[in-house]
Amino acid sequence: MRTLILQLGRFLPALEQGLAERFLVHQWPGAESANSWLAERAHAIRGIVTGAGLGVPNATIERLPALGIIAINGVGFDRVDLQFAAARGIRVTNTPDVLTADVADFALALVLSLLRELPAADRYVRDGRWLAGPMPLGRKVSGRRFGIIGLGRIGRAIAARLAVLGPVAYSASAANTDQPRYRFVADPVQLARDSDVLVLAASVTASSRRMVGRELLDALGPQGYLVNISRGTLIDQAALIAALQERRIAGAALDVYDDEPNVPEALRALPNVVLTPHIGSATHETRDGMARMVLASLDAHFAGTPVPNALT
Ligand code: 8YV
Repeated sequence: MRTLILQLGRFLPALEQGLAERFLVHQWPGAESANSWLAERAHAIRGIVTGAGLGVPNATIERLPALGIIAINGVGFDRVDLQFAAARGIRVTNTPDVLTADVADFALALVLSLLRELPAADRYVRDGRWLAGPMPLGRKVSGRRFGIIGLGRIGRAIAARLAVLGPVAYSASAANTDQPRYRFVADPVQLARDSDVLVLAASVTASSRRMVGRELLDALGPQGYLVNISRGTLIDQAALIAALQERRIAGAALDVYDDEPNVPEALRALPNVVLTPHIGSATHETRDGMARMVLASLDAHFAGTPVPNALT
């Protein structure tokens, strides 16, 4: 009998085909039909494949007595309770490194798009408004003071790109002594005060969740810009919308949100934002690499060999 795997979310054909070649794959039927669906299959499900933004709720894990592995197609594991999984002997894996360059490139693209108003410029030409006169001016990027919250793999790759443009400072749980080029500022509110452009690259933990609220936004100030390529839950979204509406910050570029794919109308209506649909790692090359890593982790787990990229 083929091993039964539960798939949460949709993935590239390369990953879905790779899964189908190896396993009997069932798509999660959605919360409404979950009860009857699980009652029939729960005992046989031995693995879960899920997106990083999606994760798996503990309530689902609890109902799967044969579950041995949760393979996350992504680096973030804020939506999988590692302690809870480990306590049940469940292996959790992710896909680090392969996506670092893409996410950092994308953060740089957001910084440039935000200050130079690239989406508005594109609309300006398409809508024929150029014929009536030149577009309003943007803001200079070179020479800005950049702040990064979180100096992990992705934060460091962003820092390397931004350092070409201006001085870089960062806030993290501790100073990174390997990175003397960048100034460490322990207090994120102080970092916001010292920055023209603040980029969020931290993972979500109990201490970083909702760390960007009114106090930090006001420290960033009316000339300051916020960029988020990490997770929407780092930000108090209502406080951000208010700060943008009241021009207490200059603008924001966001790739991630509180409740994806729902982006509040209040945010979508703002002129001083650049909004993208969680595509930091979304290139053919990187998603192919992620797919290979997910399949390698599953193969190793079911073959009983050491599992690459295991978090538990
Ligand atoms: C993807 C991500 O959106 O790696 C992460 O943590 O958020 C992204 O790479 C996602 O996991 C793709 O399923």
